[in-house]
Amino acid sequence: MALSTGSNKINTAIFISGTGSNLKSLIKFSKLKKSPIIIKMIISNNPQAKGLQYSKLCKIKKKIFDFKNILSEKKVIDELKKNNIDLICLAGFMKILSKRFIKSFKGKILNIHPSLLPKYKGLNTHEKAIKNKDKYSGCTVHFVNSKLDSGKIINQKKVRIYKFDTPKSLAKRILIQEHKLYPAAIMKMLNL
Ligand code: GRF
Repeated sequence: MALSTGSNKINTAIFISGTGSNLKSLIKFSKLKKSPIIIKMIISNNPQAKGLQYSKLCKIKKKIFDFKNILSEKKVIDELKKNNIDLICLAGFMKILSKRFIKSFKGKILNIHPSLLPKYKGLNTHEKAIKNKDKYSGCTVHFVNSKLDSGKIINQKKVRIYKFDTPKSLAKRILIQEHKLYPAAIMKMLNL
């Protein structure tokens, strides 16, 4: 991993589209003394994203971009470079980034996905795991490459699926684990 921590913390941007509970847990983590990251900005494609509230609450700069075309993405890249962003954490970010974008931040983009990858890439992971009568599902943090949910896995956490589970109940239990897994993945990625 080409990130250099030195004595300074890694300038990090969190990309969100919705509730932002992973964002919240990453903010909490970033405030710990041992944390290697500092969250410099929150980026969203969705101006209504609930998670944007943490910008005001935690005094973190926020920016909205529609990510609809190359031009919009170029603006995001410029903004990230301007803010010396060295790590991007996708946290419930529902847009697929272009190859060009990923290349601009090669090895510096992480994603959290609510399944035990390589199982169930894409959407509706909990529905799929329940429908297939899997005993376990879980969550994965991985590097982002140009193929959807296919980059190198950093860490995973298994979560038991019970007979009574609905996609909603399972999602809720997995989300609790996601909040621990993402900070742990950042530490692991940096050999900390
Ligand atoms: C999480 O389950 C994440 O894995 C998935 O979308 C959900 C986002 O939740 N990609 P939140 O916005 O962090 O609360």
